[in-house]
Amino acid sequence: MDRFLYDPFYDSVSPLKDTTVNPYIKKILDLDQSKPSVLLYGQKLKDWKDHGKFFDLSTYSKLCLEIGSYSGTTLVDLASRNPDVFFIGMDITFKRVYQSATALLKAGLSNASVFLYNALFLDKIFPKSFLDGVVIFFPDPWTKEKKRKNRLVSTKFTQGIYTLLKPGAFFWLRTDQLFYYEDTKNYLEQAGFKHNGSLSINHEGVSSSFNTTFNLKNQQTYELIYTK
Ligand SMILES: C[S@@+](CC[C@H](N)C(=O)[O-])C[C@H]1O[C@@H](n2cnc3c(N)ncnc32)[C@H](O)[C@@H]1O
Repeated sequence: MDRFLYDPFYDSVSPLKDTTVNPYIKKILDLDQSKPSVLLYGQKLKDWKDHGKFFDLSTYSKLCLEIGSYSGTTLVDLASRNPDVFFIGMDITFKRVYQSATALLKAGLSNASVFLYNALFLDKIFPKSFLDGVVIFFPDPWTKEKKRKNRLVSTKFTQGIYTLLKPGAFFWLRTDQLFYYEDTKNYLEQAGFKHNGSLSINHEGVSSSFNTTFNLKNQQTYELIYTK
């Protein structure tokens, strides 16, 4: 798994086929056989969008990315409400991508797919001005100073997202941490995003696993909606 963190096309699944390191590896390999386009990883992601290989994006009005799809709650909800939009859910753990992919299958949705991929390398799989929206709900906050370098959202990351979005496309983030909200707001404004709070997809009431937990605990959450 380690090499995967700096080489996003490294196939971290197949070499582990015969081991019992992680029970989700076999499940992912089985899914590969039965539903090859619901979960992509490794070399498949190098040319994923070419020639309608896995899905025909030309039949959709928009393409949106959800980073940190976890168990698939938000991905399923968004894809159900927006049948004309194609959604990519992305995560870095075997278990989470498998759960997201099976949640899509269970819901009978074909307008979404899951990528086992490190979101720090988005420019290697998406061309410039390609995406209509990016959703990030409750990124790991890494509150300890020593771990700060692990935070996903940074100046560089936000500038990168700006480049990959089409003009008018949205960036939508929720967090339970005020500092993460404030830092992201600054990064977005420095990158040139505009704050207008409007989303171009059906989104009313969309939640997530972490969102539900925070709501149950009456914990405050913060939301940012910006457009390019
Ligand atoms: C705190 S969880 C939030 C999950 C979900 N969005 C929610 O709101 O319930 C953060 C998720 O981001 C994923 N993640 C962390 N770093 C990532 C990265 N570099 N690329 C893709 N996913 C990442 C984690 O594996 C985890 O599933």
